[in-house]
Amino acid sequence: MSTDRVAKNAETEPLNDEGRRVVLQKPKNLVNRDKRRTVGEIHVDNPRMTCRNVDVHYGNKQAIRDVSLDIGRNEVIAMIGPSGCGKSTFLRCLNRMNDTIDICRVSGEIKLDGQDIYDKHIDVVPLRVQVGMVFQKPNPFPKSIYDNIAYGPRIHGLAQNKAEMDEIVEKSLKRTGLWEEFRDRLDKPGTGLSGGQQQRLCIARTIAVNPEVILMDEPCSALDPIATAVIEDLIRELCKQYTIYYRNSLNDPGVARFPTDSLLSPR
Ligand SMILES: Nc1ncnc2c1ncn2[C@@H]1O[C@H](COP(=O)(O)OP(=O)(O)OP(=O)(O)O)[C@@H](O)[C@H]1O
Ligand SMILES: [Mg+2]
Repeated sequence: MSTDRVAKNAETEPLNDEGRRVVLQKPKNLVNRDKRRTVGEIHVDNPRMTCRNVDVHYGNKQAIRDVSLDIGRNEVIAMIGPSGCGKSTFLRCLNRMNDTIDICRVSGEIKLDGQDIYDKHIDVVPLRVQVGMVFQKPNPFPKSIYDNIAYGPRIHGLAQNKAEMDEIVEKSLKRTGLWEEFRDRLDKPGTGLSGGQQQRLCIARTIAVNPEVILMDEPCSALDPIATAVIEDLIRELCKQYTIYYRNSLNDPGVARFPTDSLLSPR
């Protein structure tokens, strides 16, 4: 995968350099994978994360070649591309989730607020709190709604007492629009919610530990259009505080209307 920042600060749809709407379609002349390079504007002012010359190999097979990109503050970045071009692989580089795959090797430089996240002294547990992840399929823990949210803050000691924990749970559920509906049912299992509610619960669980960047790998692919619209509105709202790296799929019509700040596409 290589990247092309084709739209910046677009209100509704990506714009090209002449300010015209970009019609998203499959590239006709695919460049040989070996010759792909990062093109387009990779820099933003005051970036939150910087990636330079990132290569990823699974064994002998190269999945990502020479990707360089800045990830700004309070922006939503969408990434699209054909199956297998390396979108999930690149996303996982940003919080070292690829470390869990034995044959995976990441090289190049990735920094969060100037700190090399692949430095051998970096502890990946707090890193994955700072760079949180929401997965394709909603994956609430088999616990109550309350305990799903409280799980991370408990592990990381973010609450000194029950009142503080209650506040974190309430705030997180309010921000994801679940509070009013579930305030009296916090002891009910998180797995008993609808798909869209489960995904919002997972987002609430992610923000409960105060991440700086949220990675989302096709968070809406298992949801219907209405639940998708709710999550997309939520992403727009959350980006006022967080940077969101949102992974969508090429054929998803939502890509064309989803108001991202930047859109990455394979070349
Ligand atoms: N755990 C793994 N072991 C070996 N190869 C892998 C592994 N994960 C991904 N790959 C390979 O790396 C390449 C990129 O895969 P990746 O999952 O990042 O693609 P993707 O763009 O997210 O695709 P999709 O749109 O289908 O989700 C593919 O060729 C894939 O086969
Ligand atoms: Mg993928």
